[in-house]
Amino acid sequence: MTEVGRIGVVGAGTMGAGIAQLACLGGYETVLQDPVPAALEAGAARVVESLGKGVRKEMWSAEEAEDAAGRLTAVGEVAGLAGCDLVVEAAPEDVELKRRLFADLAAACGPDAILATNTSSLPVAAVATETPRPDRVVGMHFFNPPALMKLVEVVATHHSSEEALAAATEVGRRMGRMPIRARDSPGFIANRLARPYSLESLRMLAQGVADAATIDRVARLGGGFRMGPFELIDLIGLDVNLSVARSFYAQGGEPERWRPSEIQEQLVGEGRLGRKSGVGFYAYEEDAASAEAPFHPHATGESADPVGPTLEESSLAAIDPAAPAIVHRLFAQIANEAAFALEERVGSPEDMNTAMRLGFNWPLGPLEFTELIGPSRAVELLERLRAEHGEAYRPAPGLVVAAGG
Ligand SMILES: NC(=O)c1ccc[n+]([C@@H]2O[C@H](COP(=O)([O-])OP(=O)(O)OC[C@H]3O[C@@H](n4cnc5c(N)ncnc54)[C@H](O)[C@@H]3O)[C@@H](O)[C@H]2O)c1
Repeated sequence: MTEVGRIGVVGAGTMGAGIAQLACLGGYETVLQDPVPAALEAGAARVVESLGKGVRKEMWSAEEAEDAAGRLTAVGEVAGLAGCDLVVEAAPEDVELKRRLFADLAAACGPDAILATNTSSLPVAAVATETPRPDRVVGMHFFNPPALMKLVEVVATHHSSEEALAAATEVGRRMGRMPIRARDSPGFIANRLARPYSLESLRMLAQGVADAATIDRVARLGGGFRMGPFELIDLIGLDVNLSVARSFYAQGGEPERWRPSEIQEQLVGEGRLGRKSGVGFYAYEEDAASAEAPFHPHATGESADPVGPTLEESSLAAIDPAAPAIVHRLFAQIANEAAFALEERVGSPEDMNTAMRLGFNWPLGPLEFTELIGPSRAVELLERLRAEHGEAYRPAPGLVVAAGG
Protein backbone atom coordinates (compact mmCIF):
# COMPACT_ATOMS: atom_id res chain seq x y z
CA MET A 1 0.00 0.00 0.00
CA THR A 2 1.11 3.59 -0.66
CA GLU A 3 2.89 4.88 2.45
CA VAL A 4 1.71 8.39 3.19
CA GLY A 5 4.10 10.59 5.19
CA ARG A 6 3.47 14.05 3.79
CA ILE A 7 0.03 15.48 3.11
CA GLY A 8 -0.86 18.54 1.05
CA VAL A 9 -4.02 20.55 1.69
CA VAL A 10 -5.11 22.90 -1.08
CA GLY A 11 -7.27 25.87 -0.05
CA ALA A 12 -6.87 27.33 3.43
CA GLY A 13 -10.55 28.22 3.94
CA THR A 14 -13.17 26.78 6.30
CA MET A 15 -12.56 23.18 5.26
CA GLY A 16 -8.88 23.31 4.31
CA ALA A 17 -7.73 24.72 7.64
CA GLY A 18 -9.76 22.10 9.53
CA ILE A 19 -8.41 19.26 7.39
CA ALA A 20 -4.83 20.52 7.80
CA GLN A 21 -5.33 20.49 11.56
CA LEU A 22 -6.44 16.86 11.43
CA ALA A 23 -3.47 15.93 9.23
CA CYS A 24 -0.99 17.55 11.65
CA LEU A 25 -2.61 15.81 14.61
CA GLY A 26 -2.50 12.52 12.68
CA GLY A 27 1.28 12.81 12.63
CA TYR A 28 1.68 13.86 8.98
CA GLU A 29 4.03 16.51 7.70
CA THR A 30 1.39 18.90 6.35
CA VAL A 31 1.71 21.51 3.62
CA LEU A 32 -1.16 24.00 3.42
CA GLN A 33 -1.43 25.84 0.09
CA ASP A 34 -3.53 28.84 -0.91
CA PRO A 35 -2.78 31.38 -3.67
CA VAL A 36 -4.41 34.22 -1.70
CA PRO A 37 -1.79 35.40 0.83
CA ALA A 38 -4.32 36.73 3.36
CA ALA A 39 -6.33 33.47 3.18
CA LEU A 40 -3.18 31.39 3.63
CA GLU A 41 -2.07 33.39 6.63
CA ALA A 42 -5.51 33.32 8.24
CA GLY A 43 -5.90 29.57 7.58
CA ALA A 44 -2.52 28.68 9.06
CA ALA A 45 -3.23 30.91 12.07
CA ARG A 46 -6.58 29.15 12.52
CA VAL A 47 -4.88 25.75 12.64
CA VAL A 48 -2.52 26.89 15.40
CA GLU A 49 -5.28 28.68 17.30
CA SER A 50 -7.54 25.67 17.17
CA LEU A 51 -4.73 23.35 18.32
CA GLY A 52 -4.38 25.65 21.35
CA LYS A 53 -8.11 25.54 21.97
CA GLY A 54 -7.95 21.74 22.03
CA VAL A 55 -5.34 21.90 24.80
CA ARG A 56 -7.64 24.08 26.91
CA LYS A 57 -10.48 21.62 26.32
CA GLU A 58 -8.15 18.74 27.23
CA MET A 59 -8.55 17.09 23.84
CA TRP A 60 -4.76 16.71 23.54
CA SER A 61 -1.72 17.79 25.53
CA ALA A 62 0.24 21.02 25.05
CA GLU A 63 3.15 18.93 23.79
CA GLU A 64 0.98 17.18 21.19
CA ALA A 65 -0.36 20.53 20.01
CA GLU A 66 3.15 21.91 19.74
CA ASP A 67 4.35 18.86 17.79
CA ALA A 68 1.32 19.09 15.50
CA ALA A 69 1.88 22.81 14.86
CA GLY A 70 5.53 22.02 14.10
CA ARG A 71 4.43 19.74 11.23
CA LEU A 72 2.60 22.55 9.42
CA THR A 73 4.12 24.48 6.51
CA ALA A 74 2.27 27.14 4.50
CA VAL A 75 2.95 27.75 0.81
CA GLY A 76 1.45 29.98 -1.87
CA GLU A 77 2.36 27.98 -4.97
CA VAL A 78 1.20 24.54 -6.09
CA ALA A 79 4.88 23.73 -6.76
CA GLY A 80 5.38 23.89 -2.97
CA LEU A 81 3.37 20.67 -2.70
CA ALA A 82 6.10 18.60 -4.40
CA GLY A 83 6.92 15.58 -2.26
CA CYS A 84 3.37 15.18 -0.90
CA ASP A 85 2.14 11.57 -1.07
CA LEU A 86 -1.50 12.57 -0.78
CA VAL A 87 -3.19 15.91 -1.40
CA VAL A 88 -6.67 16.90 -0.21
CA GLU A 89 -8.09 19.70 -2.33
CA ALA A 90 -10.51 22.08 -0.59
CA ALA A 91 -10.56 24.97 -3.08
CA PRO A 92 -13.82 26.69 -4.18
CA GLU A 93 -16.61 24.54 -5.62
CA ASP A 94 -15.96 25.23 -9.31
CA VAL A 95 -15.37 22.32 -11.65
CA GLU A 96 -13.12 24.19 -14.09
CA LEU A 97 -10.95 25.55 -11.29
CA LYS A 98 -10.63 22.09 -9.72
CA ARG A 99 -9.84 20.45 -13.08
CA ARG A 100 -6.98 22.86 -13.75
CA LEU A 101 -5.80 22.50 -10.18
CA PHE A 102 -5.71 18.69 -10.46
CA ALA A 103 -3.64 18.89 -13.64
CA ASP A 104 -1.18 21.21 -11.84
CA LEU A 105 -1.16 18.99 -8.76
CA ALA A 106 -0.41 15.89 -10.83
CA ALA A 107 2.51 17.74 -12.43
CA ALA A 108 3.83 19.04 -9.11
CA CYS A 109 3.45 15.87 -7.05
CA GLY A 110 4.32 13.21 -9.63
CA PRO A 111 2.48 10.17 -10.93
CA ASP A 112 2.33 8.23 -7.67
CA ALA A 113 0.71 10.88 -5.51
CA ILE A 114 -2.91 10.33 -4.52
CA LEU A 115 -5.11 13.32 -5.27
CA ALA A 116 -8.32 13.68 -3.26
CA THR A 117 -11.06 16.26 -3.66
CA ASN A 118 -13.27 17.45 -0.82
CA THR A 119 -16.03 18.48 -3.23
CA SER A 120 -19.59 18.16 -1.85
CA SER A 121 -21.53 18.30 -5.06
CA LEU A 122 -19.33 17.78 -8.14
CA PRO A 123 -18.71 14.33 -9.60
CA VAL A 124 -15.19 13.32 -8.54
CA ALA A 125 -14.62 11.86 -12.02
CA ALA A 126 -15.28 15.31 -13.55
CA VAL A 127 -12.46 16.79 -11.49
CA ALA A 128 -10.05 14.04 -12.62
CA THR A 129 -10.41 14.46 -16.39
CA GLU A 130 -7.15 16.39 -16.92
CA THR A 131 -4.94 14.19 -14.77
CA PRO A 132 -2.70 11.55 -16.36
CA ARG A 133 -3.51 9.04 -13.57
CA PRO A 134 -7.26 9.01 -12.84
CA ASP A 135 -6.67 5.79 -10.90
CA ARG A 136 -4.90 7.95 -8.27
CA VAL A 137 -7.88 10.32 -7.89
CA VAL A 138 -10.49 9.77 -5.15
CA GLY A 139 -12.91 11.85 -3.12
CA MET A 140 -12.27 12.58 0.56
CA HIS A 141 -15.43 14.33 1.68
CA PHE A 142 -15.14 15.83 5.16
CA PHE A 143 -17.97 17.52 7.06
CA ASN A 144 -18.06 20.98 8.54
CA PRO A 145 -16.36 21.63 10.93
CA PRO A 146 -13.82 18.89 10.12
CA ALA A 147 -12.31 18.95 13.61
CA LEU A 148 -15.66 18.04 15.20
CA MET A 149 -17.42 15.96 12.57
CA LYS A 150 -16.16 12.40 12.69
CA LEU A 151 -17.24 11.28 9.24
CA VAL A 152 -15.20 11.20 6.04
CA GLU A 153 -16.61 9.73 2.85
CA VAL A 154 -13.92 8.10 0.70
CA VAL A 155 -15.38 8.35 -2.78
CA ALA A 156 -14.54 5.85 -5.52
CA THR A 157 -14.87 6.71 -9.21
CA HIS A 158 -14.86 4.00 -11.90
CA HIS A 159 -11.14 4.64 -12.27
CA SER A 160 -10.02 4.92 -8.63
CA SER A 161 -7.63 2.09 -7.75
CA GLU A 162 -8.18 -0.03 -4.67
CA GLU A 163 -4.70 1.03 -3.56
CA ALA A 164 -5.54 4.75 -3.69
CA LEU A 165 -8.83 4.14 -1.89
CA ALA A 166 -7.14 2.07 0.82
CA ALA A 167 -4.50 4.78 1.34
CA ALA A 168 -7.16 7.52 1.62
CA THR A 169 -9.10 5.35 4.09
CA GLU A 170 -6.00 4.83 6.23
CA VAL A 171 -5.24 8.55 6.19
CA GLY A 172 -8.84 9.30 7.23
CA ARG A 173 -8.48 6.86 10.10
CA ARG A 174 -5.17 8.34 11.26
CA MET A 175 -6.83 11.74 11.17
CA GLY A 176 -9.18 10.33 13.79
CA ARG A 177 -12.18 10.22 11.43
CA MET A 178 -14.51 7.33 10.61
CA PRO A 179 -14.01 6.63 6.89
CA ILE A 180 -16.85 5.11 4.89
CA ARG A 181 -16.78 4.07 1.24
CA ALA A 182 -19.09 5.82 -1.24
CA ARG A 183 -19.60 5.44 -4.96
CA ASP A 184 -19.11 8.57 -7.09
CA SER A 185 -22.81 9.48 -7.44
CA PRO A 186 -24.94 12.59 -6.72
CA GLY A 187 -24.15 13.86 -3.22
CA PHE A 188 -22.35 10.59 -2.33
CA ILE A 189 -24.02 8.98 0.71
CA ALA A 190 -24.74 11.43 3.53
CA ASN A 191 -25.97 14.49 1.65
CA ARG A 192 -28.10 12.29 -0.56
CA LEU A 193 -29.73 10.37 2.28
CA ALA A 194 -30.46 13.69 3.99
CA ARG A 195 -32.54 14.91 1.00
CA PRO A 196 -35.93 13.61 2.17
CA TYR A 197 -35.62 15.34 5.54
CA SER A 198 -35.90 18.78 3.97
CA LEU A 199 -37.78 17.89 0.78
CA GLU A 200 -40.58 15.92 2.43
CA SER A 201 -40.92 18.66 5.06
CA LEU A 202 -41.22 21.29 2.33
CA ARG A 203 -43.85 19.16 0.57
CA MET A 204 -45.81 18.79 3.82
CA LEU A 205 -45.69 22.54 4.22
CA ALA A 206 -46.90 23.05 0.64
CA GLN A 207 -49.69 20.51 1.08
CA GLY A 208 -50.88 22.18 4.28
CA VAL A 209 -50.18 19.21 6.58
CA ALA A 210 -48.79 21.65 9.18
CA ASP A 211 -46.86 24.91 9.43
CA ALA A 212 -43.05 25.06 9.59
CA ALA A 213 -42.91 25.53 13.36
CA THR A 214 -45.11 22.49 13.96
CA ILE A 215 -43.14 20.29 11.56
CA ASP A 216 -39.89 21.37 13.26
CA ARG A 217 -41.25 20.67 16.72
CA VAL A 218 -42.56 17.26 15.71
CA ALA A 219 -39.31 16.33 13.93
CA ARG A 220 -37.37 17.18 17.09
CA LEU A 221 -39.69 15.72 19.70
CA GLY A 222 -41.24 12.81 17.81
CA GLY A 223 -38.50 12.14 15.26
CA GLY A 224 -35.62 12.58 17.69
CA PHE A 225 -33.69 14.89 15.32
CA ARG A 226 -31.48 17.59 16.84
CA MET A 227 -32.88 20.37 14.65
CA GLY A 228 -36.13 20.69 12.79
CA PRO A 229 -35.85 20.73 8.98
CA PHE A 230 -36.81 24.41 8.65
CA GLU A 231 -34.50 25.49 11.48
CA LEU A 232 -31.75 23.63 9.67
CA ILE A 233 -32.50 25.22 6.28
CA ASP A 234 -32.56 28.66 7.93
CA LEU A 235 -29.15 27.91 9.43
CA ILE A 236 -27.63 26.59 6.18
CA GLY A 237 -29.22 29.37 4.14
CA LEU A 238 -32.27 28.90 1.89
CA ASP A 239 -30.21 29.84 -1.18
CA VAL A 240 -27.44 27.35 -0.36
CA ASN A 241 -29.97 24.60 0.34
CA LEU A 242 -31.83 25.44 -2.88
CA SER A 243 -28.70 25.26 -5.01
CA VAL A 244 -27.96 21.85 -3.46
CA ALA A 245 -31.52 20.80 -4.34
CA ARG A 246 -31.13 22.01 -7.93
CA SER A 247 -27.82 20.20 -8.31
CA PHE A 248 -29.32 16.90 -7.09
CA TYR A 249 -32.35 17.30 -9.35
CA ALA A 250 -30.16 17.90 -12.41
CA GLN A 251 -27.56 15.23 -11.64
CA GLY A 252 -30.19 12.63 -10.79
CA GLY A 253 -32.02 13.05 -14.12
CA GLU A 254 -34.82 15.16 -12.62
CA PRO A 255 -36.62 12.59 -10.46
CA GLU A 256 -39.86 13.97 -8.98
CA ARG A 257 -38.82 13.18 -5.42
CA TRP A 258 -35.82 15.51 -5.80
CA ARG A 259 -37.73 18.38 -7.44
CA PRO A 260 -36.80 21.64 -5.67
CA SER A 261 -39.60 23.18 -3.62
CA GLU A 262 -41.57 26.07 -5.14
CA ILE A 263 -42.02 27.62 -1.71
CA GLN A 264 -38.27 27.70 -1.27
CA GLU A 265 -37.74 29.16 -4.77
CA GLN A 266 -40.21 31.90 -3.88
CA LEU A 267 -38.64 32.72 -0.51
CA VAL A 268 -35.18 32.88 -2.06
CA GLY A 269 -36.60 35.18 -4.76
CA GLU A 270 -37.86 37.46 -1.98
CA GLY A 271 -34.43 37.52 -0.35
CA ARG A 272 -35.56 35.46 2.64
CA LEU A 273 -32.36 33.47 2.97
CA GLY A 274 -32.55 32.37 6.62
CA ARG A 275 -30.51 33.50 9.60
CA LYS A 276 -27.94 35.36 7.56
CA SER A 277 -30.61 37.67 6.07
CA GLY A 278 -32.54 37.96 9.35
CA VAL A 279 -35.55 36.09 7.99
CA GLY A 280 -36.22 32.75 6.35
CA PHE A 281 -38.89 30.38 7.61
CA TYR A 282 -38.48 32.26 10.88
CA ALA A 283 -37.65 35.85 11.72
CA TYR A 284 -34.47 36.45 13.68
CA GLU A 285 -34.83 40.01 14.89
CA GLU A 286 -33.38 40.76 18.30
CA ASP A 287 -36.82 41.53 19.64
CA ALA A 288 -38.66 38.23 19.32
CA ALA A 289 -41.91 39.86 20.44
CA SER A 290 -42.00 42.30 17.55
CA ALA A 291 -44.56 41.88 14.78
CA GLU A 292 -41.70 40.99 12.44
CA ALA A 293 -40.79 38.06 14.62
CA PRO A 294 -43.96 36.04 15.14
CA PHE A 295 -41.99 32.97 16.03
CA HIS A 296 -38.44 32.28 16.98
CA PRO A 297 -37.71 28.62 17.68
CA HIS A 298 -35.31 29.41 20.48
CA ALA A 299 -37.42 32.09 22.07
CA THR A 300 -40.41 29.93 22.86
CA GLY A 301 -38.79 28.32 25.87
CA GLU A 302 -39.82 24.90 24.69
CA SER A 303 -39.37 22.50 27.55
CA ALA A 304 -40.82 19.22 26.31
CA ASP A 305 -38.46 16.25 26.17
CA PRO A 306 -38.09 14.31 22.95
CA VAL A 307 -40.02 11.03 22.91
CA GLY A 308 -38.73 9.93 19.51
CA PRO A 309 -37.77 8.47 17.26
CA THR A 310 -41.09 6.74 17.71
CA LEU A 311 -44.28 5.86 15.87
CA GLU A 312 -46.19 5.36 19.09
CA GLU A 313 -49.54 6.99 18.39
CA SER A 314 -50.37 8.41 21.83
CA SER A 315 -46.91 9.91 22.49
CA LEU A 316 -46.98 11.56 19.09
CA ALA A 317 -50.53 12.81 19.41
CA ALA A 318 -49.52 14.47 22.68
CA ILE A 319 -47.00 16.60 20.75
CA ASP A 320 -49.46 17.74 18.10
CA PRO A 321 -52.52 16.26 16.36
CA ALA A 322 -50.56 16.31 13.07
CA ALA A 323 -47.50 14.58 14.59
CA PRO A 324 -48.36 10.97 13.64
CA ALA A 325 -48.78 11.93 9.97
CA ILE A 326 -45.61 14.06 9.93
CA VAL A 327 -43.42 11.41 11.52
CA HIS A 328 -44.78 8.58 9.34
CA ARG A 329 -44.17 10.61 6.20
CA LEU A 330 -40.63 11.59 7.19
CA PHE A 331 -39.66 8.04 8.11
CA ALA A 332 -41.27 6.57 4.96
CA GLN A 333 -39.40 8.96 2.65
CA ILE A 334 -36.12 8.39 4.52
CA ALA A 335 -36.63 4.63 4.08
CA ASN A 336 -37.46 5.18 0.42
CA GLU A 337 -34.34 7.20 -0.37
CA ALA A 338 -32.20 4.62 1.42
CA ALA A 339 -33.79 1.88 -0.71
CA PHE A 340 -33.06 3.80 -3.95
CA ALA A 341 -29.47 4.38 -2.77
CA LEU A 342 -28.99 0.71 -1.93
CA GLU A 343 -30.22 -0.31 -5.38
CA GLU A 344 -27.77 2.13 -6.93
CA ARG A 345 -25.02 0.67 -4.75
CA VAL A 346 -23.86 4.02 -3.44
CA GLY A 347 -22.65 2.36 -0.24
CA SER A 348 -23.13 -0.54 2.15
CA PRO A 349 -26.05 -0.59 4.61
CA GLU A 350 -23.63 -0.19 7.55
CA ASP A 351 -21.92 2.78 5.92
CA MET A 352 -25.29 4.41 5.21
CA ASN A 353 -26.26 4.18 8.86
CA THR A 354 -22.85 5.45 9.98
CA ALA A 355 -23.03 8.33 7.49
CA MET A 356 -26.25 9.74 8.91
CA ARG A 357 -25.44 9.20 12.57
CA LEU A 358 -22.03 10.84 12.26
CA GLY A 359 -22.49 13.23 9.34
CA PHE A 360 -25.88 14.63 10.37
CA ASN A 361 -26.23 13.53 14.01
CA TRP A 362 -29.36 11.56 13.18
CA PRO A 363 -30.71 9.54 16.11
CA LEU A 364 -30.90 6.45 13.86
CA GLY A 365 -29.39 5.44 10.55
CA PRO A 366 -31.77 5.48 7.55
CA LEU A 367 -32.02 1.69 7.46
CA GLU A 368 -32.86 1.71 11.14
CA PHE A 369 -35.71 4.09 10.28
CA THR A 370 -36.76 1.54 7.65
CA GLU A 371 -36.88 -1.12 10.35
CA LEU A 372 -38.80 1.15 12.68
CA ILE A 373 -41.57 1.94 10.23
CA GLY A 374 -41.35 -1.41 8.42
CA PRO A 375 -41.22 -1.70 4.61
CA SER A 376 -44.91 -2.63 4.23
CA ARG A 377 -46.15 0.32 6.24
CA ALA A 378 -43.78 2.62 4.33
CA VAL A 379 -44.88 1.33 0.91
CA GLU A 380 -48.56 1.49 1.82
CA LEU A 381 -48.21 5.11 2.92
CA LEU A 382 -46.11 6.07 -0.11
CA GLU A 383 -48.65 4.51 -2.50
CA ARG A 384 -51.47 6.38 -0.79
CA LEU A 385 -49.58 9.68 -1.07
CA ARG A 386 -48.59 8.90 -4.64
CA ALA A 387 -52.26 8.52 -5.63
CA GLU A 388 -52.92 11.96 -4.14
CA HIS A 389 -49.72 13.91 -4.86
CA GLY A 390 -47.85 12.12 -7.64
CA GLU A 391 -44.51 10.56 -8.42
CA ALA A 392 -42.50 12.17 -5.61
CA TYR A 393 -43.94 9.28 -3.60
CA ARG A 394 -43.09 6.43 -5.98
CA PRO A 395 -41.72 3.67 -3.77
CA ALA A 396 -38.28 2.26 -4.62
CA PRO A 397 -38.54 -1.20 -6.19
CA GLY A 398 -36.32 -2.63 -3.43
CA LEU A 399 -38.65 -1.29 -0.75
CA VAL A 400 -41.64 -2.85 -2.53
CA VAL A 401 -39.81 -6.20 -2.64
CA ALA A 402 -38.90 -5.91 1.05
CA ALA A 403 -42.58 -5.22 1.77
CA GLY A 404 -43.39 -8.54 0.14
CA GLY A 405 -44.97 -7.01 -2.94
N1 LIG B 1 -18.08 24.54 3.90
C1 LIG B 1 -18.64 23.35 4.01
O1 LIG B 1 -19.58 23.15 4.79
C2 LIG B 1 -18.13 22.22 3.18
C3 LIG B 1 -18.35 20.89 3.60
C4 LIG B 1 -17.83 19.84 2.84
C5 LIG B 1 -17.16 20.10 1.67
N2 LIG B 1 -16.97 21.40 1.27
C6 LIG B 1 -16.20 21.63 0.03
O2 LIG B 1 -14.89 22.05 0.37
C7 LIG B 1 -14.40 22.93 -0.62
C8 LIG B 1 -13.95 24.22 0.05
O3 LIG B 1 -15.03 24.80 0.73
P1 LIG B 1 -14.83 25.89 1.89
O4 LIG B 1 -16.14 26.06 2.52
O5 LIG B 1 -13.66 25.54 2.71
O6 LIG B 1 -14.50 27.19 1.01
P2 LIG B 1 -13.79 28.55 1.47
O7 LIG B 1 -14.30 29.58 0.55
O8 LIG B 1 -13.90 28.74 2.93
O9 LIG B 1 -12.25 28.27 1.14
C9 LIG B 1 -11.74 28.14 -0.15
C10 LIG B 1 -10.28 28.55 -0.13
O10 LIG B 1 -9.71 28.23 -1.41
C11 LIG B 1 -8.83 29.28 -1.76
N3 LIG B 1 -8.62 29.26 -3.21
C12 LIG B 1 -9.18 30.03 -4.16
N4 LIG B 1 -8.68 29.70 -5.37
C13 LIG B 1 -7.79 28.70 -5.16
C14 LIG B 1 -6.93 27.96 -6.02
N5 LIG B 1 -6.91 28.16 -7.32
N6 LIG B 1 -6.13 27.03 -5.44
C15 LIG B 1 -6.14 26.82 -4.11
N7 LIG B 1 -6.94 27.48 -3.26
C16 LIG B 1 -7.75 28.42 -3.79
C17 LIG B 1 -9.49 30.53 -1.23
O11 LIG B 1 -8.53 31.57 -1.08
C18 LIG B 1 -10.05 30.05 0.09
O12 LIG B 1 -9.14 30.23 1.14
C19 LIG B 1 -15.50 23.08 -1.65
O13 LIG B 1 -15.29 22.15 -2.69
C20 LIG B 1 -16.75 22.73 -0.87
O14 LIG B 1 -17.79 22.22 -1.69
C21 LIG B 1 -17.43 22.46 2.00
